[in-house]
Amino acid sequence: MAPEKLPPGQAQASGPPPLTLCLFCLQLVMTKQLQARRLDGIDHNPWVEFVKLASEADVVNLGQGFPDFPPPDFAVEAFQHAVSGDFMLNQYTKAFGYPPLTKILASFFGKLLGQDIDPLKNVLVTVGAYGALFTAFQALVDEGDEVIIIEPFFDCYEPMTLMAGGRPVFVSLKPSPNQDGELDSSSSWQLDPTELASKFTSRTKALILNTPNNPLGKVFSRAELELVASLCQQHDVVCITDEVYQWLVYDGCQHVSIATLPGMWERTLTIGSAGKTFSATGWKVGWVLGPDSLLKHLRTMHQNSIFHCPTQAQAAVAQSFEREQLHFGQPSSYFVQLPQAIQRCRDHMIQSLKSVGLRPVIPQGSYFLITDISEFKSKMPNLPGAADEPYDRRFVKWMIKNKGLMAIPVSIFCSVPHQKLFDHYIRFCFMKVKDRPGGGKTSSSLPMPPAGVGRGVGPICVGAG
Ligand SMILES: Cc1ncc(COP(=O)(O)O)c(C=O)c1O
Repeated sequence: MAPEKLPPGQAQASGPPPLTLCLFCLQLVMTKQLQARRLDGIDHNPWVEFVKLASEADVVNLGQGFPDFPPPDFAVEAFQHAVSGDFMLNQYTKAFGYPPLTKILASFFGKLLGQDIDPLKNVLVTVGAYGALFTAFQALVDEGDEVIIIEPFFDCYEPMTLMAGGRPVFVSLKPSPNQDGELDSSSSWQLDPTELASKFTSRTKALILNTPNNPLGKVFSRAELELVASLCQQHDVVCITDEVYQWLVYDGCQHVSIATLPGMWERTLTIGSAGKTFSATGWKVGWVLGPDSLLKHLRTMHQNSIFHCPTQAQAAVAQSFEREQLHFGQPSSYFVQLPQAIQRCRDHMIQSLKSVGLRPVIPQGSYFLITDISEFKSKMPNLPGAADEPYDRRFVKWMIKNKGLMAIPVSIFCSVPHQKLFDHYIRFCFMKVKDRPGGGKTSSSLPMPPAGVGRGVGPICVGAG
């Protein structure tokens, strides 16, 4: 049979291309720089190493931030309903959010933020709060823009700034010395107002706030937020506020959204997470709320990257918020029950850490606390590890190997120049109730998670301190 005629200019396609051409192509591919320049300096992430260590047998993981108990029954049922009900929930939904979800987020948060929120203009649903942060940074931060980051900080803020071409500018929360022998509180970690003011320049585009803060558990007070707000207004800066732990506040503390302060709604993006809200981090549904003047740029970014988030997870989150709206402020509300249960877990962990001679910093929010390991540092200064490796990282590796217990070194939540300042703290997550030591290498003299897992609303911390 005659070979098929090829259009003019195209080579005969039968058989492999000549070897020389193959080698030529291969060489071209191999000599090209593969990694995009925006990844320079962020391609090593210490989390990878610690998460791998945590996955080893017999390690009690009190480091990573996710609950080890089920979401509330109403949320699980909502998800089951989304999967087995309307088959159209298997298909794409509206790009900027499944309409019942954007509607309930608008009405629920509209009341909290004191704004008339338009579901189409002021709400964007994203792949978790991570997705919201990424979209915000990409949409707003330009080459050379400065972004103020308060440290210790949720570690993705720095690479997200860099990937957008921005320049991170760090300002540290510092503990005020405690004279009276009492345990430190995260509320005594403060920003120096003069130092904070000095970080604002004509290039400052955004400030990223995280309240309640990860890893410290600090809940920013109204007065602290007023300071941040006035500087943002004075220097015409956007505030990106990560409030994923807003329901997890303790000791009667109030979470204040900076967007509620006078003049702030117009320059604030408020970020939330259904994963943290309903103890379902695997669902990866998040959102951003804000004025249309900011959100329209995030929509452009979202439209050209993620485009749609999974519909069924959004439907489950919508139904869960509808339920919470009906129970809001009542004892039956998950947002009331969860912090009460988790506060008992926090208190139990504080007692356990104290009983082994550690000095935890009492958090007012989130599900993390940090604890001071200075005493270990002075008693065991020469733990194995690279000479330039911050002490807290060497300590955590030692603890995993010798005690079968995993925490997260706090220096990984800090900028490189400031890591030494924070290398005598490690972070624990107290949203853990299931893992019980007793087997393997775990020492019973080390902090133990509370016993008991509750059904329905989450953990019931039997025997919590
Ligand atoms: C402060 C903070 N923001 C955002 C996230 C990410 O949330 P999501 O799982 O919804 O992407 C986390 C997760 O640990 C977090 O701690």
